[in-house]
Amino acid sequence: MKDKKSYYVTTPIYYPSADFHIGHCYTTIIADAIARYKRCSGFDVFYLTGTDEHGEKIQKKALEAGVSPQEYVDKIVSNAKDLWKSLNISYDKFIRTTDKEHVECVQEIFKKLYDKGDIYKGEYKGLYCTPCESFWTNTQLVDGKCPDCGRDVNEVSEEAYFFKLSKYQDRLVKYYDEHPDFIEPESRKNEMINNFIKPGLEDLCVSRTSFDWGIPVTFDDKHVVYVWLDALSNYISALGYLSEDDSKFKKYWPADLHIVGKEIVRFHTIVWPIMLMALDLPLPKKVFGHGWLVIDGGKISKSLGNYKDPREYIGLYGVDAVRYFVLREVPFGNDGVFSEEALINRTNGDLANVLGNLVNRTIGMINKYFDGVVTDTGVSEDVDKELIDLVMSTKDIVDNKMDDLRIADALDVIFDIFRRCNKYIDETMPWVLAKDENKSDRLNQVLYNLIESIRIGTVLLQPYLPDACNSIFEQINSNDIGFDTLDRFGYYKSGNKVGKAVVLFKRIEIDKK
Ligand code: MSP
Repeated sequence: MKDKKSYYVTTPIYYPSADFHIGHCYTTIIADAIARYKRCSGFDVFYLTGTDEHGEKIQKKALEAGVSPQEYVDKIVSNAKDLWKSLNISYDKFIRTTDKEHVECVQEIFKKLYDKGDIYKGEYKGLYCTPCESFWTNTQLVDGKCPDCGRDVNEVSEEAYFFKLSKYQDRLVKYYDEHPDFIEPESRKNEMINNFIKPGLEDLCVSRTSFDWGIPVTFDDKHVVYVWLDALSNYISALGYLSEDDSKFKKYWPADLHIVGKEIVRFHTIVWPIMLMALDLPLPKKVFGHGWLVIDGGKISKSLGNYKDPREYIGLYGVDAVRYFVLREVPFGNDGVFSEEALINRTNGDLANVLGNLVNRTIGMINKYFDGVVTDTGVSEDVDKELIDLVMSTKDIVDNKMDDLRIADALDVIFDIFRRCNKYIDETMPWVLAKDENKSDRLNQVLYNLIESIRIGTVLLQPYLPDACNSIFEQINSNDIGFDTLDRFGYYKSGNKVGKAVVLFKRIEIDKK
């Protein structure tokens, strides 16, 4: 039985590349924020990411580089790991499809499906797009080109194994009907039904003989497993499915959430569920197909030269500026436009002006007026109630937004706390209170309310901006950072001494970048 408190979230496994762009970071940053949020909420989280290393494209690149495919992938996989490290991605496992355990698991899955009659040998005649590793029918082509990338397709004909998707079509539709939340957003489900299921599912080619950089089919070694069956299996091979130690599989499967880009929703909501049905395994609870980060309406693309390595942005603006932009700027399920200027505006606006300034001003005042010691004196006024009510209502709203995967909205709600605090400073005017000795207790209370509100906002913000929040906890000198400290206003210890104010986010001058 699956432990009630466990939570399994995955990203797709990435094609290893030396040229990741900010769009690639989108899926991993969202999944990371969700994983951290669930951990903070008390779940036992398993967050999986990794690399998808087989296929003709990789083999060709290795050949061009004059090395073996294995040497080629070994070298560039470290690029993905380095990028995720620089973005503070807190994955629990990094799977590579060249891992021995994965290879053995895929071989067993293939054999199981073959023995069951769900995989059979046939002849493949079709149009193949090498960069996308996808077969297309004539009707799916757009102006004779690959509908995904717009490049030429090649006609190929070879002996191949097929997976009987068609056999499971009715069961899949029934599953969609009975599980209305399985695919999100709703529009993607309609796309799947209208574009792929209604015209009738075609059986899927799951092996190739024209290249050999893949997992060999154990009972027919001319064939290697075609990439999608190999790749999709990672979600269960990573948990030890069919291995000696399958305790993780028992604990975490079925996945709570697969987060994928919109272009690969069809593999995750058609091929993957059918594979699982054929294996008699439960299906994931949700597949969320997110939109893309685009530049001027077009894809971020190496050939267009329209992007920097994400590590350059991190170096210039800080890791949390990049994380914040990606999480805040892209509306639920839709595309979002990336530009360095928009990144700078978000950083200057929300991060430097609203949050950074608030923390800096508050700590500055506590140091200036009370030598850094802040006391809950109990001298309250009506204006406090509005602030405290807003702060205390935020956790439930954030929970609701996160349940709906509306991450940008969750962030907006958290920032309402910080915006409200800034307004509270204008309303209470601590600098005026400071001039009147009789108002010292009131001034203390105002500063206490501010620091406690900042603490609560920061506790809620930590899944999204972990580094900045750690710095705030240090500056306000508080260890009360768990979600269990959100049930009442007043955890911040009265009489505590704050730390030193540090600039959290420098304002960026656009012309100096
Ligand atoms: N290897 C397959 C997935 C196999 S999963 C069983 C793959 N890899 S990928 O490297 O091309 O893409 C990895 C992820 O990056 C996908 O979720 C994809 O949508 C995402 N992105 C790549 N470019 C993107 C943007 N410009 N914007 C947002 N996400 C995009 O597909």
